[in-house]
Amino acid sequence: MSRRTNLAATQDLPPATPQPNVFPLSWARGTEKMEEIWTAAQKEVWDPAHLSWDTFDPESYTWEEREAIAYWWTLLSVFDASAPPVFAEALIKTYEDHEEDAVRRCFFSVTRDEQNHEQMCGMAITKLLGHTDPLAYEPKTELGEKAQRNAKWLYFNGGRYWEGYKQAVPKYPLAVLFSSFLMGEIAAATIFHQMAEGAREPVFEEAFTNIGRDEGRHMAICMTLMERDYPKLDVSDRSLITKQIRAGYLFLSAVLYEPPEDFWDLPSDFIDVQRRCEAVAREAGFHIPELEAKKENWRSAILNLKGVLDRYDVPFPAIPEVGISGEEVLDIDLDEIIPVF
Ligand SMILES: [Fe+2]
Ligand SMILES: [Fe+2]
Repeated sequence: MSRRTNLAATQDLPPATPQPNVFPLSWARGTEKMEEIWTAAQKEVWDPAHLSWDTFDPESYTWEEREAIAYWWTLLSVFDASAPPVFAEALIKTYEDHEEDAVRRCFFSVTRDEQNHEQMCGMAITKLLGHTDPLAYEPKTELGEKAQRNAKWLYFNGGRYWEGYKQAVPKYPLAVLFSSFLMGEIAAATIFHQMAEGAREPVFEEAFTNIGRDEGRHMAICMTLMERDYPKLDVSDRSLITKQIRAGYLFLSAVLYEPPEDFWDLPSDFIDVQRRCEAVAREAGFHIPELEAKKENWRSAILNLKGVLDRYDVPFPAIPEVGISGEEVLDIDLDEIIPVF
């Protein structure tokens, strides 16, 4: 509208703002649980820069150990560095949808938390490698070189979903978009608690404790949204959720378990290299759960989610990889991935 229209000279009240308008001018209350989660989020804010970095001396490790531990942080950052834009987009959607005030705030808190996780990954990698870019860094050992090749493939795979995600966001309700997210949050919360418990370095223990607590809140946000919206779920949304869950499993397995071959495009020695890195990192006191423990953790997160979806009659996908039967979901493509965690 140009300024010259000057409607105010001819009418007492302005015309109604066309809807949906990106920002509501209201602070509607509804789901009390969201208020509680937001209050907790405010209380539990942390800053990666304020952890006890002064106790951490990368030089007390060999180069192979440094590269192996940095590899694990790089693997995590493929997920956590994509989360800020993913949640920033979801935050905008909560405004476009005129969501309850507390829901908007909760999505804001997830965006902020994920940015912290991303920063933490960056700080750990930078200290360990003495370089800000794990893909451009010049490896010092044979394992470091292989680890970097792994990281390049992870990054390539992780970067492929963004266009599909952007198209999916306006099409589907939040509670459908984030259905598989719950599974990731449950598993992430557990894995980070385990890593905090086993960590030898205070700075890593603090980081994993904080990240695990954040993921627990994200889980609660997701769950609350489902409890609010799933009872009135559209039938057509149900099969989409089933697909989402399978897609989420395939995507998140790369960090919470091991990347499934049918989805991740990776070199044949990828898993071997990753296992070698994990072994070196463990040996150096950086606790990463063993494969069996990861599998158990992942499986119980999935069963947890299944318990939630059963309540709302949403068919669960078959996940034979961890021994869960259900509806067969074939041909997942990247457009169906909501890659968060
Ligand atoms: Fe995270
Ligand atoms: Fe998260």
